[in-house]
Amino acid sequence: MNQILVTGGAGYIGSHTCVVLAEAGYGVTILDNLCNSRAEVLARLQMLCPTKLEFIKGDIRDPVLLEQVFKARQYQAVIHFAGLKAVGESTVQPLAYYENNVCGTLALLKAMQHHGPKSIVFSSSATVYGDPHAVPIKEDFPTSATNPYGRTKLMIEEILADLHRADTGWSIARLRYFNPVGAHESGLIGEDPLGVPNNLMPYVAQVAAQRRPYLNVWGNDYDTPDGTGIRDYIHVLDLAKGHLSALRYLEQHSELITLNLGTGRGYSVLEMVAEFERACGLKIPCRMGPRRKGDIAQCFADPTRSWELLNWRATRGLAQMCKDAWHWQCSEKLRNE
Ligand code: NAD
Ligand code: WQD
Repeated sequence: MNQILVTGGAGYIGSHTCVVLAEAGYGVTILDNLCNSRAEVLARLQMLCPTKLEFIKGDIRDPVLLEQVFKARQYQAVIHFAGLKAVGESTVQPLAYYENNVCGTLALLKAMQHHGPKSIVFSSSATVYGDPHAVPIKEDFPTSATNPYGRTKLMIEEILADLHRADTGWSIARLRYFNPVGAHESGLIGEDPLGVPNNLMPYVAQVAAQRRPYLNVWGNDYDTPDGTGIRDYIHVLDLAKGHLSALRYLEQHSELITLNLGTGRGYSVLEMVAEFERACGLKIPCRMGPRRKGDIAQCFADPTRSWELLNWRATRGLAQMCKDAWHWQCSEKLRNE
């Protein structure tokens, strides 16, 4: 069985990708230090996977561990999710972000160069487009960053490009995710942010679950039809399937590819709230607030290249995203009672 090393596989997107990989017949080893995920998730994740998952608790910045990991087993490829991802936190603790994301990725790539596979799928982000001059966003649009988190993604993208320039034997996918939401339909895995959620959908779900009194809508004076920000929300399982498609592509091509993973459709904050209200049958109280620093009016993908190259496209709509997010929220509540 072809074995894939999934760094950050206990996290939100990584856990869903592990399910998709296992269902497709790959063996999966997770390497995660659990800095933003919980060990309990692993047992539930295992329930969704037809084959036994391997789990290594450890840090991608640990070169000794990485050497052991790659010497112990032959991996076909690495899917690299491990990283810190909170934009606001990255402005307060930039060094932690450069250390974890950039140094961690360097340590991983060095270990792969010496002992591991030369094939990697990397979690990049639509944040690398900064404030785009137009929508929908194509992969060849200019890149920029407005915060340290975004800069780590840009730096890693550059490192990967240099690596491929130096040795075309590497197979590299830089996947730029738009806004992942939703959860596995079982309610067993989903997004479980620690503390106050930064992102819209987890916040909305917590308001619906009466864990928070209302949603702050950050700005209703943007140049958009209802004045609120527009984003490309993509179901996390569609995103996970994009990784499987990228992995299969890299099995056949030792190339550097850069692709948007989005749906190609943008929805406003108020449209998302209305859809979530339909899914849960409850009212989500909202308060209009000022614009959030660093936010942009509109961000949605042109996913044509992913379709052409990978034959991949998102299939789940907004109703499914909200239904699954709500089911996950309710299931978590029951488990915690
Ligand atoms: P997550 O925090 O749920 O998962 C990341 C996992 O990596 C966690 O389980 C964490 O414990 C682990 N990890 C972090 N640093 C580590 C280290 N040094 N060594 C080992 N494990 C480590 O985040 P997610 O939402 O699943 O995001 C996964 C990746 O996708 C991240 O790189 C993130 O930047 C990127 N991304 C996320 C989004 C989003 O909105 N969720 C959007 C674009 C890109
Ligand atoms: C979406 C919309 C907010 C919360 C962030 C990162 C990005 C990527 C995905 C990792 C915006 C509005 C939000 C709230 C609100 N992550 N909002 N009230 O900002 O598109 O992207 O996550 O790579 O790098 O920046 O997503 O979910 O935070 O916001 O009104 O409480 O919801 O203003 O218009 P964003 P988001």
